[in-house]
Amino acid sequence: MAMLKYNLIPKPNFYKTLDGTYTVSSGTKVLCAEEFLTAGNYLTAYLKTSPVSTEGAIKFKKVGGMEPESYKLKVSPKGIFVEASDARGAFYGAVTLKTILMQATKKEGKAVVNGLLIQDAPQYSYRGVQMDESRHFFGVKTVKQVLDMMAMLKLNTFHWHLSDDQGYRIESKVFPLLNSVGSTRKYAGLQGFGFKHRGGEYSHYYKQEEIREIVAYAKKLHITVIPEIDVPGHTLAMLAAYPELSCTGKKIEPACENGILEDILCAGNEEVYTFLEKLFQELCSLFDGPYFHIGGDEAIKGHKLWEKCPKCTSVMQAQGLKSPKELQGYFMTRVNAMLKKYGKTCIAWNDCINDNFDSSIICQYWFPNNLAAVRKQASHRDFILSPENYFYFDEKYARVSLKKVYKFNEVKVGFAGVGQHIRGIECEHWSEWIDTDSALQFAMFPRLFAVAEVGWTKLANRRYRDFYKRLAWYKTYLNKIGINYSRLEKGRAATRQVIPYHFGADGKEYKKSEELKAKESF
Ligand code: ACM
Ligand code: ZN
Repeated sequence: MAMLKYNLIPKPNFYKTLDGTYTVSSGTKVLCAEEFLTAGNYLTAYLKTSPVSTEGAIKFKKVGGMEPESYKLKVSPKGIFVEASDARGAFYGAVTLKTILMQATKKEGKAVVNGLLIQDAPQYSYRGVQMDESRHFFGVKTVKQVLDMMAMLKLNTFHWHLSDDQGYRIESKVFPLLNSVGSTRKYAGLQGFGFKHRGGEYSHYYKQEEIREIVAYAKKLHITVIPEIDVPGHTLAMLAAYPELSCTGKKIEPACENGILEDILCAGNEEVYTFLEKLFQELCSLFDGPYFHIGGDEAIKGHKLWEKCPKCTSVMQAQGLKSPKELQGYFMTRVNAMLKKYGKTCIAWNDCINDNFDSSIICQYWFPNNLAAVRKQASHRDFILSPENYFYFDEKYARVSLKKVYKFNEVKVGFAGVGQHIRGIECEHWSEWIDTDSALQFAMFPRLFAVAEVGWTKLANRRYRDFYKRLAWYKTYLNKIGINYSRLEKGRAATRQVIPYHFGADGKEYKKSEELKAKESF
């Protein structure tokens, strides 16, 4: 393929240059069918016009028979034509065109676009970004900025981790203690893995109207929002609000520590299931997408409590469950059934999944342990891949370098031959250490560009050196809009270090700053 003049990430899967040019000005009309209005609006917001339904030199046309999310874009002296079969495909045509217009040669306020033909479709249907707002909270403005960058990179799923040991972050009108108790912890900075408690009280949650605002904002960008309510472990904030839901009933507080903690929802108490039914009913009125993440990870310490709990052991006996792991299968199956009633497909982390789980539950693979058993699941269950050694962006660039992320392919992480069950990939922004917008941006960029290309561009069309050249324009864009990014993308030693995380600011390798040390010492 002849080189395109434009620096597009993700790289289109097919393109060629055509003779001639077309000149776009702010007066150029965008003709757009009603069902492709999200595409038309995205483009005209940039051109500062509105879509029209009569004649226009830029035309969005619906055609039959194209693959989901795919689009065709043609620029010729006669005009600019975008074709797609679905609204998401048309939207990605608009995204590509807008990026080209941003880069095109400008003459007297007009953009001269070189003739070209792009025919493009994604490698994976699931191209996700996760944000953890339990450990640290970022708010509406930051989330919208992340969604904007995702749309620009054709990333289509936002996995929103809103409940964990360190804070419950959604307004609940049904269970108000989730907010008055569960959304507040004693210290802003968490202790553990080399860090000490810092700062004062930390109290945040999203009002319901803010959740609705973000879900609606994402929808206009063709991004599906998946809420995660992590159960039965990672629930200290919930249990602080309603201690009667644990095996012991003991009073606890939302955690100010990092790591795997012990307390867990009781799997043998019917009150727990009633509570979750009501909570999910409320949450499903806020999140209208087809998926719900039910967590299920790192419940191992809680399993020890289940073994000692009369209610849990009695359910194990009655149901013929031989281990706490099987009891977790029973618990997750019931949770899945509750959400199925609202039409949701559930997702859970790989370390809890076993054969007891309904095969409709999608497995999110994060921990490269027990790979043989996990792979077996992939023969009859859909998977999302986010192995921590490639896609945990809270980890240092020294371990998860830009190049490493870019070089990902499913065969490398042991999923050869089960391709039909791999829906896609996702990068994670756990926020134990990511405590400011600047730190979030540092972790995310430039690695998000690599994730976007891995998710969209077919392996045979990917070249790191070529990607790296195209990245230069996107860095100037980040500079322009004031987004921080790491300059140490190339990485060094690929070994796990004592503290494998960044900490600090301003695009330097994060080190504990003097200022931070001073804060820690009070
Ligand atoms: C996880 O990192 N505990 C999913
Ligand atoms: Zn119990």
